[in-house]
Order: sequence, then structure tokens, then C-alpha cells
Amino acid sequence: MTDAGRVLVITGAGVSAESGIPTFRGEDGYWRNLDPAKLATPEAFARDPKLVWEWYRERRQCIRNAQPNAAHAAIAKLAQRAGDLLLVTQNVDDLHARAGLPKEKMVQIHGDIFLSRCSRCDWRAELCDAEERGTRNNSGLAGARPSTGPNEHEIQQTDLPYCARCHALMRPGVVWFGEQLPWDEVRRVEDYLGRGACDLVIVAGTTATFGYIIDWALRASTDGGQLIEVNPDETPVSTFATQRIHEPAAIALPRLIDQICNP
Ligand code: OAD
Repeated sequence: MTDAGRVLVITGAGVSAESGIPTFRGEDGYWRNLDPAKLATPEAFARDPKLVWEWYRERRQCIRNAQPNAAHAAIAKLAQRAGDLLLVTQNVDDLHARAGLPKEKMVQIHGDIFLSRCSRCDWRAELCDAEERGTRNNSGLAGARPSTGPNEHEIQQTDLPYCARCHALMRPGVVWFGEQLPWDEVRRVEDYLGRGACDLVIVAGTTATFGYIIDWALRASTDGGQLIEVNPDETPVSTFATQRIHEPAAIALPRLIDQICNP
């Protein structure tokens, strides 16, 4: 078994598609006939926060009911074999983590759907299953701050969560269209790229709509590293790829990673 060296893996919604989580731009990506691209915006939240919270609540439920697939498992396996692997995922689900990928090897560049944060101050916390199924405190968060009584802040599930600190509306802890990427997470990617070129870059299950995704993939593979794309469709990355695998990620990645680990 060989060391796979420095490996950057970039994933998108296609990697979770076979776990039953709809992609953003696929035909199944629409929710109640609404375009996700129009819901995942600060404007949509300002216009109708309840609708946006409802969309995210349903997505969290879908993710909780889903299981990591063979693509997530293969990436976790590669992380054990590679000398220095970083996964940059655009997915806000927790399937990479549940497949066993350590947090320190993963950057969730578009945030985490199981976190919420205040729309005004920097208060943030976790959204937990039990609270979402029943009632929750005003912050909508698990253990965000000590409760002073069992029913103190109970509100109906349909109500909106408010910040425990400043009482402004809480929002999902994700990046929306037109928003800045989380600086700390960008820093982690830049630090990784700054430490040297990669032997291998894998870009799987993403339309690579955003310039920074293409930029990171190209910069990481610039010194002669391989750039392998796994996607049934063509994307802007395709023309730069040294190898293109036009197959679903849960089929292609286990085979590819087996070949890398056992050449
Ligand atoms: P998209 O929905 O744009 O693209 C999914 C990609 O996965 C497409 O290129 C499909 O061809 C491919 N795909 C579908 N099924 C697949 C499978 N089984 N195996 C491999 N590939 C498959 O999702 P993303 O590219 O992840 O951002 O979208 C990027 C970002 O746009 C999201 O993180 C989200 C969205 O708006 C924000 O919300 C900021």
C-alpha cells in the first residue's frame, strides 16, 4: 500500500446525490417548485425568513435520514492513506464527517447546515434534532446557553428562532449567493495550498460554478500534479483535467481510490 502524497479533494452536491440528497442544479433540485438559487440568498431571507428556515429544516431532516455513500467512504479511506489530504467541500451536509473524515482534514467552504448564526451579532450554535422535532428555546439551539427553566422559552416549531444574546433573527449557518466566504475557512485552504503543490487533485460532483473552486483546483495541480474530475457531465474543470471519469461518484471514487492506494 503506497502513500498517496499531497491530495486535494473538492466535492459538490453530486457526491451526496446517491445518498438521496438533491443537488442544487439538477432536475430534482427544486423544492416545492422553488429554485434553490433563489432561496439561498440574503434577499430571500429578508423577504420571507419563515420560508427559508422551512426549506433548511426540511433539508436537515433529509440529511439526518440519509447515510454516507461509497464516495464519502472512499474519500475517508484516501485521507488515511495520503500524506497530507485536504477536502474542500461545498456541501453543507455532514456526510463526509459521518463517513469518518476528521474535521481537521475538511473545509466546509459554504458552511454547515447544522449550525445557525445570528443575523446581527456573532452568536452561533448547533441546531439539534430533538429541538427541531419538538420545541426549542428562543435561540433555536442546543445548549447555546443555560436554560433557567424547562419550559422557559418553548415556542412552536413553526416559529422563528431568535438570538439568545441580542434577540435578532437567527439564520442558517451557511453561505448564500452574493455573500463572502468564511474567512477562516478560506485561510485554511490558502495555507494548505501555500505549503506546496499537490500530487493529485480530485474534483467530484460539482458544476464548479464558482471561480474559486476552479482556481484552487488549478493552483493545486499546477506543478505537474494530476487533476482528475469525477462527474457524469462536463464542467468548466473538464478542459483542464488530466483524467475525466464520466460516472457517478459512488461508483467511480471507490475504484479510483483503490487504484491509488494499491497501484
Ligand atoms: P450542483 O447542483 O450545481 O451540481 C451538482 C453536480 O454534480 C453536477 O455537475 C452534476 O453533473 C454532478 N452529479 C450529479 N449526480 C452525480 C453523481 N452521482 N456523481 C457525481 N456527480 C454527480 O451542485 P454544486 O456544484 O455542489 O452554494 O453547487 C455548488 C454550490 O452552488 C452549492 O454549494 C451551493 C449552490 O448554490 C451555495 O449555496 C453558496
